[in-house]
Amino acid sequence: MNILILGSGGREHALAWAVKQNPKCDRLIVAPGNAGIAQMAEVAGIDILDGATVVSFCEENAVDFVIVGPEAPLAAGVADATRAAGILTFGPSAAAARLEASKAFTKEICAACGAPTAAYARFTDAAAARAHATAQGAPIVIKADGLAAGKGVIVAMTAPEALAAIDDMFGGEFGAAGAEVVIEEFMAGEEASFFVLTDGTTALPIGTAQDHKRVGDGDTGPNTGGMGAYSPAPVLTPELQARALDQIVLPTIREMARRGTPYQGVLYAGLMIENGRARLVEYNCRFGDPETQVLMMRLGAQALDLMLACAEGRLAEARVNWAEDHALTVVMAARGYPGAYEKGSVIHGLSRLPEDSRHMVFHAGTAEKGGQIVANGGRVLNVTARGDTLAEARNRAYAMIDHLTWPEGFCRSDIGWRAL
Ligand code: AMP
Ligand code: GLY
Repeated sequence: MNILILGSGGREHALAWAVKQNPKCDRLIVAPGNAGIAQMAEVAGIDILDGATVVSFCEENAVDFVIVGPEAPLAAGVADATRAAGILTFGPSAAAARLEASKAFTKEICAACGAPTAAYARFTDAAAARAHATAQGAPIVIKADGLAAGKGVIVAMTAPEALAAIDDMFGGEFGAAGAEVVIEEFMAGEEASFFVLTDGTTALPIGTAQDHKRVGDGDTGPNTGGMGAYSPAPVLTPELQARALDQIVLPTIREMARRGTPYQGVLYAGLMIENGRARLVEYNCRFGDPETQVLMMRLGAQALDLMLACAEGRLAEARVNWAEDHALTVVMAARGYPGAYEKGSVIHGLSRLPEDSRHMVFHAGTAEKGGQIVANGGRVLNVTARGDTLAEARNRAYAMIDHLTWPEGFCRSDIGWRAL
C-alpha cells in the first residue's frame, strides 16, 4: 500500500522507519519530512495544515493510508478531511483532538467520567483568576487553555510567579490559546507517559516511556520539548498500567463515544504517579516526541499493522508482540536551545554510524546542503539504541554520539538516570 506520513520531526522519522520495514508498505511519502527522512522515503513539501491540499495530494498519489504525526493538523481537521474523502486515516477528528487542544475540555471530560486528575478551575477573567490563585496559594499550576507549542504551562512555586503567569496569559503572551486559563492543584510525584491505541471502542496499550523535559543534567534549567526518553518506564508497573487503563483511559474513550465524538488514534496519557496511584496530568492526541523514537525502536514493523487495525476499527483482534527489551534516545540540540540558536552548522560523522534494529539516528531538525547534513532546528538529532537492559541501550546510544563531530551541538549526559 501507499502510505503518507504527515510531519517533519524525529517522531515522523521514527514512524517512517518502522512503517518502511513492514512488507505491506509499497510507497512511503512523508510531508514535509526532513533530510534524514529524505534518505529513506519520498518527501513532499505540501501544506499539511490544509485538509483540501492533503486530500488532493492523496488522490494524485494514490495514497491508501495517512498517518498524522503532529497535533496541529489534527486540531485543524485534516483527519476529518481525509476520512471524508474516503482515505483510511490514523488520527483523531478535530472534535476528538480537543483532548489536547483544550485543557479545559479535558478537565470537563475527566469530571464527567470520574478520571482522577488535579482539582481545577477555569477563568476568562484575570481578576477572578488572580483571586483564585491567591486564595489557593503556591505551588499551583497555571495553564493557557489552547495549543501553545508546549509552552503554555507554568508550574508556579510561589504566589508572585502564579500571578505573573496569569497576567502574561491574559495579556496575550500565548495569543488566543490564553483567552481562557485553567488553574490546577499542583501534583507532586514522578511523571510517565502511557501510550494507548484506540479505534473508539477498544483500547490497546502499546508502551510506556519517560522523557526529560529540562535542558540540563540533573533535570535543571528551562523546559524543552524533551531532551531524551526511554521505554519502558519502570515506574508504570503492569498493575499501575491496568489501573490507569480502567480508571482514566477507558472511561475517557467511553465518554468521547457517548458524546458522539469517538476518539480514534493514539491517546497519549501523561500521568503523575505518587504513592502507588496514577493521576492524569494531560492528554496528547498524537505520539510523543521523542517518546515515539523509543517506542518505534521496540515495536518495529508491527507498528504499521497496529495503526492499520486502529484506523480500520479492528483493534479488538490486534495483539502486540513484546520483546523484553529497552530503548533509549538522546536528543542532540543546537547550542542555545531552548532559547535562541543558530541554524546551518555542519554535522560530521553520521555516515559512520550503524543503522540497524539496535541503532538508529532519527533526524529531528536537519537539512541537506551541498551533500552535507546541517542543523535546521533546535532539537536536531535523536540518537537511539535498543538493548537487553536500559544500561546497554544507554551505552550504545552514547557510544554513537562519541562518533559524531558537531561542536555547535550539545546533549544531556544523563538520559535515563532515574531508571538506572
Ligand atoms: P506540557 O507537556 O508542555 O503541557 O507540560 C506540562 C508539564 O507541566 C507536565 O509535563 C508536568 O511536568 C507539569 N504539570 C502540568 N500540570 C501539572 C500539575 N497539575 N501538577 C504538577 N505538574 C504539572
Ligand atoms: N515529549 C513530550 C511531548 O511529545 O509532548
